[in-house]
Amino acid sequence: MPSFVGAIDNGTTSSRFLIFDEKGDLVIGHQLEYRQIYPHSGWVEQDPLDILGSVVTCIDAAIRKFELQGNDIKQLKGIGITNQRETTVVWDRNTGKPLHNAIVWSDTRTGDVVHELCESSEKGANAVKDICGLPITTYFSAVKLRWLLDNSKEVKEAQDNGTLMFGTVDSWLIYNLTGGVYGGAHVTDVTNASRTMLMNIRELTWSEECLKFFGVDSKVLPEIKPSSSLFGEINLNDLEIIKGLPIAGCLGDQHAALVGQHCFQVGEAKNTYGTGCFLVFNTGEEIVPSENGLLTTVGYQFEGEPAAYALEGSIAVAGSAVKWLRDNMGIINSAEEINALAESTPDNGGVVFITAFSGLFAPYWRPDVRGSILGLSQHTTKHHLARATLEATCFQTRAIIDAMNSDSGKPLKTLRVDGGLSNSDICMQMQANILGIEVSRPQMRESTALGAATAAAVHLGVGMWEGGFKAFTERVRERKEVLQKFAPAIQETEREKQYDLWKKAIDMTLSWS
Ligand code: G3P
Repeated sequence: MPSFVGAIDNGTTSSRFLIFDEKGDLVIGHQLEYRQIYPHSGWVEQDPLDILGSVVTCIDAAIRKFELQGNDIKQLKGIGITNQRETTVVWDRNTGKPLHNAIVWSDTRTGDVVHELCESSEKGANAVKDICGLPITTYFSAVKLRWLLDNSKEVKEAQDNGTLMFGTVDSWLIYNLTGGVYGGAHVTDVTNASRTMLMNIRELTWSEECLKFFGVDSKVLPEIKPSSSLFGEINLNDLEIIKGLPIAGCLGDQHAALVGQHCFQVGEAKNTYGTGCFLVFNTGEEIVPSENGLLTTVGYQFEGEPAAYALEGSIAVAGSAVKWLRDNMGIINSAEEINALAESTPDNGGVVFITAFSGLFAPYWRPDVRGSILGLSQHTTKHHLARATLEATCFQTRAIIDAMNSDSGKPLKTLRVDGGLSNSDICMQMQANILGIEVSRPQMRESTALGAATAAAVHLGVGMWEGGFKAFTERVRERKEVLQKFAPAIQETEREKQYDLWKKAIDMTLSWS
């Protein structure tokens, strides 16, 4: 009987559970959006119980569909987890209950904490960058945890009493799925840990120096494990049907997409267009510090193998700008409508949209900046704005690739893409035009979930993943993948003219803030 492997994918706005067969093909899945909480401008929270509830519902629903297809649940051999990164969850060891809403990665409430921390070190924002690979900004978990310790009596008391448990969303989910207060595992993987600012990326262990710098007690932290290893077994009443199933893979979503897109060679990169957009470039066993505003992060680690490192360019707003056009502006009724609008005009009519709703991430790192729309005229229509919205992510990707080419010294020749917005042909054509290199899109664009399933399946030796990591990567190299390619279709002079206009708009937006 054929075997299958499942993947929990907790994104910023929705959860899914997808099941892959032993050839890596997607057979079934279920997806559910969950609640976003915006208590103040710049604050973004989620209820950890909503996150957990959405995941459990997705698993349950997908399994029902799987059985309706004529499969037996015993054919499901294991589960991988992938998740929105940096989002910070705190809960109590005695009750297993959250002590605060989760503070989401895009939340910018920690501006003052960041300022104080930068002031406290001669190195400013780079105070602990040599250790953890990251500059101090509002984005990473340690500053969010510091804010919680300073602003929530419950969280501070729990740390003092030794009952505080901290984790990114992977840790929260694994803890609950493996039993919660009844012996749930408090674990994370190297990729998620590399987004906290608390891990030494060379040693792959929690750093005493970083813990001291942020005032965090080591007892609150989960155990760090390789991305492909045993994290625990399902032990939750609501999921009795899969009790005992091993969770054998865990990666932050952008790292999972790197694995799912099979970017295992040094110099291979992928760009995932989700709520935000994240370009990750494999640097192999070498830790490359960025001189140009990129992050140094752990790419992935398979058990028994050295970690692979990566450079990352993060864009805070991508799909969320399309959602903003739909929900806040009412310009479109569904996200897909943006494509028809954008296609109905040959250009942006001089409109440039800087979508800095949560500050500007790479390569600028300015949490104080807010968005702007420039170049409006009597002639401007929603068609131009739709086009400028899609172009916003493509232009920032260009700024990131320029930075990455300088850091790595090896200009990128092809960009592999995935995620929601990569389904848009017009957006991918714009991306190729703006970059001047080929954009390459796989047929199956659920790379994030596939990466988590891959990590679990390699550990468990299921199907095409049998024989361990090295055997798997060799098979990948021999495989002929069907890719859809978008070649640049504008002249160099036109490309640079458009990009110069966008850079001018960035400069104006930065100075206005
Ligand atoms: O770092 C944040 C990132 O992990 C969020 O991913 O796919 O929800 O945009 P996504």
